[in-house]
Amino acid sequence: MRHPLLASAILGTSLFAASAATGMAQAQPATPADQVDALEAVFGKHAGMRRSGAKGICASGYFEGNTVGRALSSASVFSGARIPVVARFSIGGGNPKASDKSKTVRGLSLVFNLPKGEQWMMANVSAPVFFIARPEQMVPFLQARVNDPATGKPDPAKLKAFNDANPETTRQGAYLAKTPVPASYASAKYWGLNAFEMVNAKGQSQFVRWEFVPSAGTVGLSDEQLKSMPDNFLFDDLRQRAAAGQVSFDFKLQLAEAGDTLVDPTTAWPDSRVSVPAGRLVIDQVEAGMGGACDKITFNPLVLPKGIKASADPVLMARPAAYGVSLGRRLGEAAAAK
Ligand code: HEM
Repeated sequence: MRHPLLASAILGTSLFAASAATGMAQAQPATPADQVDALEAVFGKHAGMRRSGAKGICASGYFEGNTVGRALSSASVFSGARIPVVARFSIGGGNPKASDKSKTVRGLSLVFNLPKGEQWMMANVSAPVFFIARPEQMVPFLQARVNDPATGKPDPAKLKAFNDANPETTRQGAYLAKTPVPASYASAKYWGLNAFEMVNAKGQSQFVRWEFVPSAGTVGLSDEQLKSMPDNFLFDDLRQRAAAGQVSFDFKLQLAEAGDTLVDPTTAWPDSRVSVPAGRLVIDQVEAGMGGACDKITFNPLVLPKGIKASADPVLMARPAAYGVSLGRRLGEAAAAK
């Protein structure tokens, strides 16, 4: 049996097909290695480090799903039992020394370790939209941001030309520019951005996007406050808050309606969409420094439990291979350094 809102999947897919057919996709397809090379060209090559989300800290805790989650999906994550999670908080981009004051995204990545060896993985960011609508925009988006050796800055003409031709790729930057830098990893809201399909025990389907809403409220730092802050404060803050039992998030599912895109993470769904709380995430342990248990994990968003399926979003489909290339490079570098 199909849920009525499945219709939106079909509409979303055909919209994408139409835009591709009218020639809106301008750049050539790139391989996952090309995408990772392009990240290295912007951020440098830092041995053993993630090519995106390079500065980050590993943590752990648990998730408890609720009846709303169970009504939408048969996934065991919503059983109500305590599900152990490994989490990683990070700063967007491939610079392992990025300042915590950067006006970039913060990341929250999770592995849910479910009964019978099942896992659910995800990597979420602190912006309601992504910076590319289609995977083929990734390489040119990054190439437009490579520093010109003559000036030490991206070439403004090249950047403008890319932005003018791909206006949807400027939405995330515009959001970050007007949004205060998070005061804490525990006071940022994180969005999954790609759409997924929840399938319940009766076989009914509902497309969703999820978000993690901080119990501490969404708290940012003003430009004035930032002036007196050091470049590194987020790790210590997270450790202190976790020790005090103050790091938790409501897990909310935004329900798609007919016509909502399922294939374009630069386009948010209307705020009027129903959003339901489906569980709670608690982080109670934080590792001492970078590295540790998360090093060997790549948070592959297509590792999904029974009861949750991928949408047809090509950006979602492009992620695992690029993450695998980055994982291979960084683990190879770490092994070579031993
Ligand atoms: C074509 C699209 C994308 C590409 C090519 C890409 C590429 C990458 C790569 C290479 C890594 C490093 C992986 C590792 O070494 O383990 C990474 C990490 C990350 N990505 Fe993406 N990404 C894409 C889309 C997205 C989207 C849509 C989101 C948000 C919903 C996202 C959020 C993150 C986060 C939070 C991390 C850090 C993960 C961690 O803590 O280990 N990415 N990405």
